[in-house]
Amino acid sequence: LVDERIGQAAANELMTAAARGEGKAMTYDVVVIGAGAAGLMCALTAGYAGRRVLVVEHASKPGKKILMSGGGRCNFTNMATTPANFFSRNPHFCISALRRYRPEHFVELVERHGLEHVEKAPGQLFCAGSAKELLDVLLTECEWAGVDIRLKTSVHSLERQGEGMRLATSLGPIEAGAVVVATGGLSIPTMGATGFGYEIARQFGLAVTETRAALVPFTLTSQWKERAASLAGLSHEVAVRCRDGEYHEPMLFTHRGLSGPAMLQISSYWHSGDALSIDLLPGTEAFEALITARRDAPKRRLSTWLAERLPRRLAQAMVEWHGGDAPLAECSNATLSAWAAYLNDWQLKPAGTEGWRTAEVTMGGIDTQGISSKTFEVQGLPQLRFIGEVLDVTGELGGYNFQWAWASGVACGQAV
Ligand code: FDA
Repeated sequence: LVDERIGQAAANELMTAAARGEGKAMTYDVVVIGAGAAGLMCALTAGYAGRRVLVVEHASKPGKKILMSGGGRCNFTNMATTPANFFSRNPHFCISALRRYRPEHFVELVERHGLEHVEKAPGQLFCAGSAKELLDVLLTECEWAGVDIRLKTSVHSLERQGEGMRLATSLGPIEAGAVVVATGGLSIPTMGATGFGYEIARQFGLAVTETRAALVPFTLTSQWKERAASLAGLSHEVAVRCRDGEYHEPMLFTHRGLSGPAMLQISSYWHSGDALSIDLLPGTEAFEALITARRDAPKRRLSTWLAERLPRRLAQAMVEWHGGDAPLAECSNATLSAWAAYLNDWQLKPAGTEGWRTAEVTMGGIDTQGISSKTFEVQGLPQLRFIGEVLDVTGELGGYNFQWAWASGVACGQAV
C-alpha cells in the first residue's frame, strides 16, 4: 500500500517537467527534506494549509525509524510529556511547540484512523498492532493533504534564491518558497541517517553543538564484559546515577555490557571516562539491613541473604566476583560495609557505548539559537527551517522523541 501510493503524483509531474525542457525547475511552495516522523507531520500540516508540498527522501522507504521503533510497535508518544523531559543547550526552546501540539492531539489523529494503542508503562503509548499502521496513518494524511513524496532522491545542494530556495537534486533542479530540513540525527546510519542537516546548518551560518550517541547501551572492559556476558538476558530493577541524572528502571545484562531502560536513560548524561553508580537494592540501606540480619539470623549465609533480594543468578555471580561468602555472624562491620557499597553504590566505568550503530537518538545537534521556537525558521532567512531530531533537542526514553517530532513538525507546517 505504502509503495503504491507514494511518489506517483510527484513522479508524473517531474516527468512532465523533464518533457517540457531540460533544466526547467519544478516549483513547490515547500520542500521538506526527510520523510521521517517530523518531515511527514510538517508536510501534511502544510498541505492541509493549502501549500504545494514535496517531500524528498534519499532512502527507499519513508519512516524507517518509525517502523523499527518500540520493537516494531512504536512508542509514539508519552501522555506526561513536559519540557523537563528534554535535553538542550536552550531548555526553553521546546516549550512553545510542545504546548501547542500535545500528546492528546496526536492520539486524536491516530484514533480517527481507528489505530488501536496500548499503554505499556504509565503514559507510554504504543501501537497495539504494528508501527506500520502508524506510518500508514501519516502517509494517508499526506495523500489527503495533496503532498508529493519522492523516495531515493538526493539533494546535492541548496542555495538561497531571492525570497525562496533552489535545490539541485537527483530529480533535477527544484525551486521552493521554503525548505524544511527534517533529516534527523546520526543514529543507525544503515537506516538512512546522515549528517546532511548539520552541513546545511553550517552552510547558512548556524552552529552545531557537540553530538554524541544517546539512549544507547554501554560496553564494558574485558573482566566486566565477561561477567556481564555470563548473565546476558538477566534484567533487574536498579537505581542508576551519573552526573545530574538518576533513573529507577530495569537494567539488562548483555553480551557486550549493560542495557535496558535504566542504562539507555543514563547514557544521555554519561561522558567518556565517567563512572556509573548502580544501586542494586534501591530503597534499601544495605548496611543497615545486613547489620539487622546479622543480629536476627546470625547463621544465615551472605549468599542466602543476597539471593532473597536479587535474582538468584546475580546473587551467585556477586559472591563469585567479590568472594567472602560466610555466615553473617562471621562477617565484620568492615566486610558488611564493603558489601553494602557493592550493592548500593556499584561504581562501574563503562568502556564506552555501542555508538551510532544502536543508539536511539543523537544528543546535541543544530544550535537552537538563531531559530524561532514558534515557526522553526532561521532568523533572517524564513525560507529555511529545521525541525525534529536534527535540532539540539533530545528527549528521554519513553515516547518523548516522537512527540517532539510531531510537535515541531506541526508548528513549522502551520507557519511555513
Ligand atoms: P527521522 O530519523 O525519523 O527521519 C529523518 C529522515 O531523513 C529519514 O527518513 C532519513 O532517511 C532522511 N534523510 C537523512 N538524510 C537525508 C538526506 N541527505 N536526503 C534526504 N533524506 C535524508 N522515539 C520515541 O519517541 N519512541 C520510540 O519508541 C523510539 N524508538 C526508537 C528505536 C530505535 C531503534 C531508534 C533508532 C530510534 C527510536 N526513537 C524512538 C527515536 C525516534 O525514532 C526519533 O527521535 C525520530 O524518528 C526523529 O524523527 P525525525 O523525523 O526528526 O528524524
